[in-house]
Amino acid sequence: MIRLLLAVVFMIGLVPSAWASDSNLKTLKVDFGLSAEGKKCIECHAQKQPGIVADWKDSRHGHVGVSCIDCHGVDKDSPMASQSCPGVKGTDTYVTVLVTPKTCGRCHATQVDQFDHSGHYRARLQYKGPDGRNFKGMAALIEKHEGQGLEKFKNASEMSGCMQCHGSVVTLDADKRPAKEGWPAAGIGTVWPDGSVGNCVVCHTRHRFNIAEARKPAACASCHLGPDHPDIEIYNNSKHGHIFNAEGSTWNFSSAPDAWEPGDYRAPTCAVCHMSGIGELKTTHNISERLKWNLWLPESQVRNSPDPLSPLTGEGIEGRKKMESVCSNCHSPLHTKNFFEQVDNNIELYNEGYWQPALAMSKELAEKKLLKENPWDDEFQKTLYYLWHHEGRRMRQGAAMGGPDYAHWHGVFELQQDLYKLKDIYNKRIKSGKIEE
Ligand code: HEC
Ligand code: HEC
Ligand code: HEC
Ligand code: HEC
Ligand code: HEC
Ligand code: HEC
Ligand code: HEC
Ligand code: HEC
Repeated sequence: MIRLLLAVVFMIGLVPSAWASDSNLKTLKVDFGLSAEGKKCIECHAQKQPGIVADWKDSRHGHVGVSCIDCHGVDKDSPMASQSCPGVKGTDTYVTVLVTPKTCGRCHATQVDQFDHSGHYRARLQYKGPDGRNFKGMAALIEKHEGQGLEKFKNASEMSGCMQCHGSVVTLDADKRPAKEGWPAAGIGTVWPDGSVGNCVVCHTRHRFNIAEARKPAACASCHLGPDHPDIEIYNNSKHGHIFNAEGSTWNFSSAPDAWEPGDYRAPTCAVCHMSGIGELKTTHNISERLKWNLWLPESQVRNSPDPLSPLTGEGIEGRKKMESVCSNCHSPLHTKNFFEQVDNNIELYNEGYWQPALAMSKELAEKKLLKENPWDDEFQKTLYYLWHHEGRRMRQGAAMGGPDYAHWHGVFELQQDLYKLKDIYNKRIKSGKIEE
């Protein structure tokens, strides 16, 4: 194993008195060069998978001598320890194809800790219970409806769909290699055999692990799109997206963390608003930290929980202040204040004008047994679902990120149509005491 020593020495008391007031002098000792064993991995894999080695060679890890074995090597007693790689068979070296946040955390503890406190941490855990089975409503959708009740296809839609964005539970086969039920999966909240949660490669992909890539909207767009959370579409519709699309290819995306500032770019990308250090704000891997509201729930509420498993994770009012501080680097205080008043007004319109009346009708129909058992074959329940899960999220997220087409035409305009439809069905069912055929 390469002996990469990252010793951070706090030199208080050991330095000349002129320095003594600075208690934060760091010494980062990095051992360059590769061990003989590390070199072997590269030489052979350069033949077998030149694509992987080419990416790695060009990465910061390559430059500081963090190599294959530092990420893929594991102790013999690790649950994932395998000798499936012919290059290590019969030796004392054990490897695994799985590189978990716990492994990255050996050298990047801060980023892992921030991630563990974010809404991303929850992505896989939230739709399954602790027993590993899907919650009732989700299980019914995935197995009974999308899988059409066919045993063989029980999890097919989940494996190619949900899991590739949300993450999977990785299980091991007899050789301690990952089984197909959970791997490969490109989801953000993957649960690994060593107990760690998350997926660091979704934004800076292997084997480059590049911050420039993660700062571009493309890094978020592979998951944040579509009818229920069209964040990339909203961004493209916004003035910021307009500017990025017109000239982003000429910006500097490679500055060091916390030193990437306006000037390197003219308009914010997703990362600038939600993650990057800018002005007084420090870089964070907790994407919930700068949010005020929850904008995906049926009814929006202000965030107020330290628990990453809570839908309201974050400190809403503090979060808004941080977001405003992002804007302050390029906009006047009045611009920002008025903008967010427009946003909050829109979110409250959604809550009071749409969700609350729709919910009241739904509750009454349920009490009077005027809802079908199968929600996916009931015009009222389907429309209610679209109202909050599709149209309602588009209206709220479109407003919050300056995408007028999503706030309006794909948003509130469709919401008023949904609400009139719900009222129509509700009136018919209440009047007749029956569910229409
Ligand atoms: C900074 C950590 C890191 C380093 C260094 C690293 N890898 Fe990986 N590697 C990963 C991660 C993360 C994955 C994805 C694992 C997963 O999906 O479970 C991966 C995946 C792989 C895979 C499976 C890829 C696939 O698409 O089938 C192979 C093979 C592999 N690495 C070989 C190597 C080789 C060879 C080197 C040295 C040139 C190397 N790795 C260096 C982190 C690393
Ligand atoms: C002599 C060639 C050779 C050497 C040396 C070698 N490998 Fe491999 N490795 C392979 C081949 C070939 C495979 C594909 C095996 C297969 O799945 O059939 C592989 C597979 C792997 C895998 C994927 C394992 C899996 O379960 O699919 C990882 C990770 C890996 N090697 C890492 C390493 C590391 C780390 C080193 C250095 C300690 C190393 N390899 C040295 C040839 C080599
Ligand atoms: C053995 C220690 C070690 C491990 C394990 C490790 N890294 Fe790193 N990583 C480093 C060091 C050292 C640097 C700083 C290199 C530099 O910027 O010069 C770095 C830099 C980075 C960067 C910044 C790259 C850039 O473009 O500036 C990213 C992103 C990164 N690592 C992600 C990861 C991820 C994800 C994992 C796990 C899959 C991982 N690292 C595992 C040591 C490690
Ligand atoms: C691999 C898929 C994936 C990628 C890539 C991804 N996300 Fe997410 N993101 C998700 C999922 C899934 C959720 C929902 C998590 C949950 O609440 O269960 C989410 C939730 C969020 C949330 C809301 C968190 C909360 O507390 O409600 C924000 C903000 C966010 N992502 C921003 C980003 C940004 C910015 C990027 C790019 C830098 C990004 N995401 C990249 C999948 C992804
Ligand atoms: C294209 C990627 C993608 C796919 C496929 C996907 N989701 Fe999501 N999902 C997301 C993102 C991104 C969010 C976050 C939305 C936001 O913050 O507004 C989300 C939010 C959610 C939420 C609300 C967050 C929470 O913590 O409760 C649930 C539940 C959910 N998804 C379940 C599923 C299920 C179940 C499937 C498959 C039947 C699925 N998703 C398919 C990307 C995806
Ligand atoms: C949602 C996307 C996303 C995910 C997931 C993600 N990163 Fe990052 N990462 C970024 C962005 C964006 C930056 C650049 C921030 C900036 O502008 O300075 C970054 C920067 C980094 C850096 C450079 C130092 C720093 O903090 O800026 C390291 C190291 C790093 N990430 C490691 C990790 C590790 C380890 C994980 C897994 C726990 C991870 N990342 C998961 C988006 C992500
Ligand atoms: C100009 C800054 C800015 C940019 C650029 C930006 N966002 Fe946002 N984002 C916001 C604000 C502000 C909110 C609403 C925060 C609140 O709740 O007050 C938000 C909300 C969100 C949410 C909803 C979280 C929830 O509760 O459901 C997601 C997801 C998200 N953003 C992802 C993205 C992605 C992905 C991109 C890039 C394609 C992006 N954002 C670009 C500022 C930005
Ligand atoms: C890096 C600089 C930068 C940051 C940070 C930034 N913006 Fe902008 N923003 C711009 C530029 C440049 C324009 C285009 C102005 C024009 O239309 O001429 C713009 C346009 C806008 C517009 C369209 C209306 C108008 O005046 O043109 C809104 C709304 C907006 N920004 C809101 C925000 C909010 C809210 C934030 C913080 C969450 C934010 N911006 C962060 C640079 C920035």
